Amino acid sequence: MKNRLSRIIKPSSGHAVMLAVDHGYFMGPTHKLEEPRKTIEPLLPYADAIMCTRGVLRTSVDPKTSVPIVLRVSAGASVIGETLTNEATTTSFRDAIRLNAAAVALSIFVGTQHEHQTLKSLGQLVNLGEDYGIPVLAVTAVGKELEKRDARYLGLACRIAAEIGAHFVKTYFCEDFGKVVKGCPVPLVVAGGPKLETELDAFELAHDAIADGAIGVDMGRNIWQSEYPVAMITSIREIVHNGASVREAQQAFEEAKKTKTPILTKNPVM
Ligand code: R5P
Repeated sequence: MKNRLSRIIKPSSGHAVMLAVDHGYFMGPTHKLEEPRKTIEPLLPYADAIMCTRGVLRTSVDPKTSVPIVLRVSAGASVIGETLTNEATTTSFRDAIRLNAAAVALSIFVGTQHEHQTLKSLGQLVNLGEDYGIPVLAVTAVGKELEKRDARYLGLACRIAAEIGAHFVKTYFCEDFGKVVKGCPVPLVVAGGPKLETELDAFELAHDAIADGAIGVDMGRNIWQSEYPVAMITSIREIVHNGASVREAQQAFEEAKKTKTPILTKNPVM
């Protein structure tokens, strides 16, 4: 368990830059992720882990990669359906093991009509994770009700996930995020959410989340919907692993934009 977690959360910094590319499981061919392989390949060398479904893993990720896989194993709803919250476990633990997942991920929908089923699924997944030494990432999803993104709601959802046994939790950044961190005894990573207006906004989000105690990001759209996705992920790395300020990240971004293969101050696979 610890060894697998250490492949994702790098012991050298205690932090992680996870690349989220699982959006298609409920959003279909999302903008700039229409052809997953094309989006993923240039970014993979700079990611500490890739979060995806087994379908994308099978079709669009080179099996020779050594980047740890955080396998999304829940699904069951779509953006055009009645609700986003009606999810269940759709990938077996056996398949997750066969696919050499470093961790498995499942969404919980606290406070919705599907709270019970998604929390029960989390418990069952943690039971299997404990049996086989595979960490579970609980995703505190918010469905279509985005107004729930405050410290009180996210703090509640993250704490419940940790109490059920999630080994790490993915949530959203919000005002008073430190309170969410304080109430959650396992590591937290933040999603980026929909593409922000500027790169600077995304750097601010990552910076403030780390400053408040998140151990990293599990970021998707703010990286690969940028005009310069590689420059974006390497600049986010500077914040997450090297303590860069927002300004330093912006400078790194401007520099990286000019370079085909950005130089990193630290090797991503260490
Ligand atoms: C949401 O549950 C999806 O699983 C995404 O992985 C997550 O939202 C992170 O991606 P983004 O940074 O685009 O929000």
